[in-house]
Amino acid sequence: MQTSRVDVDLGSRSYPVLIGSELVGGVGEMLREHGLKQTNAFVVTNPQVGALYFLALEKALAAAGFTRVVRHEIPASEEGKNWDEFSAVCAALLGNFPDTGAVPLVILLGGGVVGDLGGFAAGVFRRGVPFVQMPTTLLAAVDSSVGGKVAVNFGGVKNIMGIFNQPRLVVCDLALLRTLAAREVRSGASEIIKYGAVCSPRLFQQLEEGGLERLLALEPETLTDIVAHCVRLKARVVEQDEFDKKGIRNVLNFGHTIGHALELSADYALTHGEAIAIGMIAATHLAQALGKCPAGFAVRLRDLILRAGLPVNFAAEPGLFDRVIRALQMDKKFREGRNVFVLPTSVGAWEQAENVDWTLVHEAVRAVLV
Ligand code: NAD
Ligand code: GLY
Repeated sequence: MQTSRVDVDLGSRSYPVLIGSELVGGVGEMLREHGLKQTNAFVVTNPQVGALYFLALEKALAAAGFTRVVRHEIPASEEGKNWDEFSAVCAALLGNFPDTGAVPLVILLGGGVVGDLGGFAAGVFRRGVPFVQMPTTLLAAVDSSVGGKVAVNFGGVKNIMGIFNQPRLVVCDLALLRTLAAREVRSGASEIIKYGAVCSPRLFQQLEEGGLERLLALEPETLTDIVAHCVRLKARVVEQDEFDKKGIRNVLNFGHTIGHALELSADYALTHGEAIAIGMIAATHLAQALGKCPAGFAVRLRDLILRAGLPVNFAAEPGLFDRVIRALQMDKKFREGRNVFVLPTSVGAWEQAENVDWTLVHEAVRAVLV
């Protein structure tokens, strides 16, 4: 399979995303071709992914002249995306590379948790050292490895401590997805449905016409095509609004407002993609209540989410509604007490709504808690 390249054009912070199969063995050479000359590497991964792929990566790095490769593991789930683990990565960076002359290349081998936490640590160690994303989940391939948002959860709020920090290169080896659990493939499909729903009628239709099932089966041609399409969509959005200041990048947050609140309030019972699937249903409910979204959109979205084996609601255990509302009120997108929601208006189109009546927001949350 040929490697595709998508460029993220951000002036001096530009970088390519290389998408292909069986890329790990040649990754050292790729780093050199892209001007990364370090001989020390600090690889952040987790026990699950490290056991599968670290040795192959280490070998590829050694073959390209890396003389020291340090492996640092964080726990393998959202629970590991916290300040203590971030601090442990910082301590390991300083402990292993106390000398300014030995600045390492940070390599993030894992899903969105490794990428978000490790990218944050790379951004603050010595006010920033270069890093490379090697996404190993479908979700990280299509979303979190691109765009430079890196963060950890803190104080019960998702991604509240973080920075913008673009990688120097993204190497997306789709062969690594073959060891993913089916639930994690479905979780990645959720972000792909998001792109189709608010950014691309063509992608939405492709998913509806059988692309979704081929994607879930990791059929190589469909997988490469859809991953490259999503990365291009994300790159074009990020290029227009890298620092999330113009309201353009907010499109990527469709489903993430109520979804993030639910993800944290449900104590990690849901994967990120599952929470976002429910969040998209809730945001669509809100859009309909505000008269902005036709019923046909809601039906098509729900159908795709169900076909992907993703949830459209969540069991309302005691206290959950209040916890979700409390988490929502602390959402980092909200400004001066004004809530902000991304509302779908038709396939491939959206609007930002501010200061939405909280009664309607409560109804939208209730609609997905059963
Ligand atoms: P994750 O990183 O927790 O990975 C999911 C699970 O898959 C983990 O148990 C992991 O060990 C396992 N795994 C990873 N790769 C594997 C492989 N190749 N084979 C077998 N198992 C593998 O979850 P995720 O879904 O990748 O990422 C979710 C995170 O991404 C959330 O914290 C979310 O907030 C964040 N996110 C960030 C952005 C962004 O722009 N920065 C965008 C979307 C999501
Ligand atoms: N995942 C949201 C963003 O990158 O802006």
